[in-house]
Amino acid sequence: KKPLIIDCDPGHDDALMLMLAVGCGLFDIKAVTISAGNQKQEKTLSNALKILTLIDADIPVYRGAEKPLFRDLIVADYAHGETGLNAPSLPTVTRAPAQGSAIEGIAKVLSESIEKITIVPTGPLTNIATFLLAFPHLKNRIERISLMGGGIFRGNMTPLAEFNIYADPEAASIVFNSGIPITMCGLDVTHKALVFQKDIDHFRAIGNKTGRAAADLMDFFSVYYREHHIELDGGAALHDPCAIAWLIDSSIFKTKHCYVDVETRGELTTGTTVVDFYNTLQKEPNTEVAYDIDREAYIEMIYQAVKKLP
Ligand code: BDR
Ligand code: CA
Repeated sequence: KKPLIIDCDPGHDDALMLMLAVGCGLFDIKAVTISAGNQKQEKTLSNALKILTLIDADIPVYRGAEKPLFRDLIVADYAHGETGLNAPSLPTVTRAPAQGSAIEGIAKVLSESIEKITIVPTGPLTNIATFLLAFPHLKNRIERISLMGGGIFRGNMTPLAEFNIYADPEAASIVFNSGIPITMCGLDVTHKALVFQKDIDHFRAIGNKTGRAAADLMDFFSVYYREHHIELDGGAALHDPCAIAWLIDSSIFKTKHCYVDVETRGELTTGTTVVDFYNTLQKEPNTEVAYDIDREAYIEMIYQAVKKLP
């Protein structure tokens, strides 16, 4: 099984990402580290513990940074609600977080593992950047970073900046300039990774508690997408599972190897991933940039994973 560390800020789509990562059975998930993002650290931590309790996954969960490197915290309560994971059918938290911080947890996993580790961030990149600054000698123990964030031609926080990158652009800049191979699932692909009402009904019909929770979660965040994204024709963008789906079967994506950097000082563009999609700068590519997905195959992949869970 491929060893992974997941860094997330649940978040409805982060929750589905965890269900896919655990349910597919292909990964040895060594740790889940928590970023603040969709809500404050306290809430995203508790949400991750709830989801892992629900799906019966005994994985150490490490508390992460409470705010971005230099900027004030912004949260996405407009899409994910007051708890960051509003949904009717989630268990109460009974388990405790692991001892130590996110960066200590990552350092522990990387130093103990013989195999290189893939890191999957689906929130702001504060923990990953802090880790790279604090433990530079462990960088070569990371095989790849497969992340959800950014966009080639669009944003959702500003016209060009996506939430996870916009929330902590300096951290994102450190990650994209780290030299570690990166896969980026940005808005261009995640706005094609759509879930529709018929898919939600299909998940609920599985009849297990994870299927019910997945359906409730998707019901909640679909409301935001129906109100704010008429161009998606009733679909909701299921962003974060893309970062795991690419590791499971990259053939359902179209990607291009590009040079990517992050704007941190723009007048209109702070937090934008600047993707040299047409290789105008002729710089060494650092990122596999996903720009299209076989939607049906993606939803089926998540469905099959949820079916295997409690
Ligand atoms: C990203 O922002 C968060 O709200 C989602 O969980 C996803 O990671 C999409 O822009
Ligand atoms: Ca997220």
